[in-house]
Amino acid sequence: MVLKKPVIVVNFKTYPEVSGNAAVELARLCEQISVETNASIVVAPPSFDLAMVARAVRTPVFAQHLDSAPSGATTGHVTVENARASGAQGTLVNHSERRLKIAEIHEIIDRCRSTGLATIVCTNNLAVSKACAAMGPDFVAIEPPELIGGDVSVTTANPSIVSDTVLAIKAIDGQVGVLCGAGVKNGGDVSKALELGTDGVLLASGVTKAKDKRAVLLDLVSGLMS
Ligand code: G3P
Repeated sequence: MVLKKPVIVVNFKTYPEVSGNAAVELARLCEQISVETNASIVVAPPSFDLAMVARAVRTPVFAQHLDSAPSGATTGHVTVENARASGAQGTLVNHSERRLKIAEIHEIIDRCRSTGLATIVCTNNLAVSKACAAMGPDFVAIEPPELIGGDVSVTTANPSIVSDTVLAIKAIDGQVGVLCGAGVKNGGDVSKALELGTDGVLLASGVTKAKDKRAVLLDLVSGLMS
């Protein structure tokens, strides 16, 4: 699948506030806002809720993690083929909270490519970003781990890691999109991310923990347009 850029990817993680029926509710809200504003929004609900969410919305639904194991005699694994059959259109890979070995990242990207799933590979620094870009994922998302879940956006705390990642990745493979994440909270953070050369943002707590999720999402989307 080809994602429209720039894009806002909302990772629900496993926050209880946005699990189960609440995951469907948040995905519907993202869909509504995407229709109203024409913004590209992707949702990544918890694994157990993915199929239910994918049945409820047309907004692209991504897994938060998949294993490299093939479908079949692989008890307990979360496979690429199962995710596809459940309605996933892509997946996060190597999230900071679900790190993988490099060989597994490569295998998952390949398996996703042949299954038609898009990949967003999360990275923690420039070296890992370059290594992952060479594998030809759809996107690399740079997220300094120390800023994840905090109140200061990576675009303010460490803008150079974002722009350096963009330059390095574009030099390796101009087809690979670049996202940034960690501490992204508002439209200003989104427009700064685009200014730094990215194709969008990956965020979680700014939306999942917000009291007024609609207002926060509208503000984030306004950053795509400014
Ligand atoms: O996957 C998004 C993420 O790790 C950033 O989290 O809460 O800082 O937006 P957050």
